[in-house]
Amino acid sequence: MIHELIHNALNKQINAEFTAWYGYLGMAAWCSGKQLHGCAKWLRGQAQEEHSHAMKLYEFLVARNLNVQLLPLDEPRTEFDSVVDIFQEALKSEEKNTKRIHKIFELAMEQKAFASLVELQWFITEQVEEEATARDNLAKAELVADDPAAVLDLDEILGSRKLKLQPAS
Ligand SMILES: [Fe+2]
Ligand SMILES: [Fe+2]
Repeated sequence: MIHELIHNALNKQINAEFTAWYGYLGMAAWCSGKQLHGCAKWLRGQAQEEHSHAMKLYEFLVARNLNVQLLPLDEPRTEFDSVVDIFQEALKSEEKNTKRIHKIFELAMEQKAFASLVELQWFITEQVEEEATARDNLAKAELVADDPAAVLDLDEILGSRKLKLQPAS
């Protein structure tokens, strides 16, 4: 039987992943309002990934016959100063999420929760990629920050993102 502390932590992580989903949607909405449709598409794709992360943990709990708790979500930011502001917020939230996942991993190690450790390992690897992408986007946004023509180019590049996932069913 999975330790109660891990069970609670995983339920909270489901909430954190849905919070990230909501956060990226808030960023996408701001971009759409500024007619930055490429950035909006990229951020909606990212939101979709976060949704799939939440569902991966949800399915893990279901498979282990454990209760899924769907905790309330805070209202995300939908007001930003610039594209730089957006990607700063994105990096900050990814870094926070990495720390959270490392903490749960540590707890799972202490509790010898082997199945949870294997499950969480996927998230640790994923966060390395997520942080690298977030840093890359922020660096690019900072480079083009004061040049509207370059921002439009970046918008087009981000808009060409191929989504890995199908829309959630
Ligand atoms: Fe995630
Ligand atoms: Fe993420």
